[in-house]
Amino acid sequence: MTSDRPFHWEYEEQPVERQAFRVTGGRALHGRVRVSGSKNAALKMLAAATLTGERCRFTNVPEIEDVRVMVEVLRDLGATVDHPAPNTYEVAAGDVEWLFVPLEAAAKMRASFILLGPLLARFGRVIMSNPGGDRIGRRPVNLHVDAMRALGADIEYRNGYYFARSPGRLRGTDISFPKVTVMGTENAILAASLAEGRTVIRPAAQEPEVDDLILLLQKMGAEVERTESDTIVVEGQRRLRGAEHNVLPDRIEAGTFVVAAAVTGGEVTLDSAPCEHLGAFLEVMNDIGVPLACGTDSIEVRKGDKGPGEYTPVDVETAPYPGLATDLQPPTSVLLSQAAGTSRLHESIFEDRLDWLEQFRRLGANVELHDDHHASITGPSRLHAAEVEMGDLRAGASLMLAALAAEGTSVIHGAHHVRRGYENIDGKFLDLGAQIERVSEGAG
Ligand code: UD1
Repeated sequence: MTSDRPFHWEYEEQPVERQAFRVTGGRALHGRVRVSGSKNAALKMLAAATLTGERCRFTNVPEIEDVRVMVEVLRDLGATVDHPAPNTYEVAAGDVEWLFVPLEAAAKMRASFILLGPLLARFGRVIMSNPGGDRIGRRPVNLHVDAMRALGADIEYRNGYYFARSPGRLRGTDISFPKVTVMGTENAILAASLAEGRTVIRPAAQEPEVDDLILLLQKMGAEVERTESDTIVVEGQRRLRGAEHNVLPDRIEAGTFVVAAAVTGGEVTLDSAPCEHLGAFLEVMNDIGVPLACGTDSIEVRKGDKGPGEYTPVDVETAPYPGLATDLQPPTSVLLSQAAGTSRLHESIFEDRLDWLEQFRRLGANVELHDDHHASITGPSRLHAAEVEMGDLRAGASLMLAALAAEGTSVIHGAHHVRRGYENIDGKFLDLGAQIERVSEGAG
């Protein structure tokens, strides 16, 4: 495994241009918008392509920063990644030269850790940066590491890196996770698909993106099946082949646009929107008083008897699928500021997912934070313009939603956070009649 290529990381060299959004709110959004492909599915599929030396072709891949980072990581490993048309990517991982995922990649995108399973299973070794650095407690990867160890890998942790090896093929086994983990389940499936023998994963995450990954793997020749809602069985194969796959639509983006329509008192039709994957969220919308109609491939958000300021307060709790997605908690919170009364939030998955409410408060929301997992929102609030800072992807999009509903012109710094996961979000809002511009704040 030698190469003349300089050992460099393109994503590190590109100066990041800092941008902000200027949003003038108070306009109801109207029109149609097409939902892009799922970020959380596309990233895993690009990684899954390293399970084979043959070419894999993906369509409906969202054009977002996280995909760009994953592509750079794959190229730096030595894979060929082509981008023949917008939203289409082809990965050929015949030549993989560096079995190393550096800190720069992991720090930019935690999902790069999904490469652990496929690289270890196919090449017998890999060095992965710990995406959380040495920070303990928040966003750990212990469940991924334990799953690989159960499959027979030898993994040592030194200086912020996991050194993983498997002397022969990984060996199929029973993997029982102490709690449900989406990416942990996916890493286990990817590794087990090239292991020797049968692997049973329980409890397995039930997110639709996991099932879409299973569909891709089946096309690649893997024997993977969800035998019960929380159980996935994998019969490992010696090798897998190339495949083509169209990425499923992004249910989180769809939910974000449902709130955009409802919180501005508008009417929007979402095309390529997966109603069947949004059950718990649509139920909450229904309880709040947002009239919705599901088509085969679309969601229509209509104007009902109630509008912003008059919605019904509800208590919500996030949970693994089929529960309410933690990624939809921030958008839902924005809508709850327009309910007449107090709503309680229980964020059960992540301990930092309520932090953004401090920024939301600056726009006029009446929020009380009880602890890392509980908060209440009392409405209706007259949201007003403010200068705020995005802290992460979902919170960032939600601050945009709040600004769209607020009177006056808000400035939202940190636009790169939403670029990570939403394709052309400002363009889509503009098409729906929003007043929004992206302004440069210089190189950072
Ligand atoms: C994925 C999604 C993310 C979503 C989350 C929950 C991707 C790229 N990201 O993240 O958008 O918010 O699912 O639906 O798909 N945990 C551990 N140890 C581990 C792994 C996880 O303790 O090794 C904990 C986490 O801290 C969390 C819980 O398990 O409390 C669930 O996290 P997990 O489902 O693994 O989230 P991700 O797959 O990282």
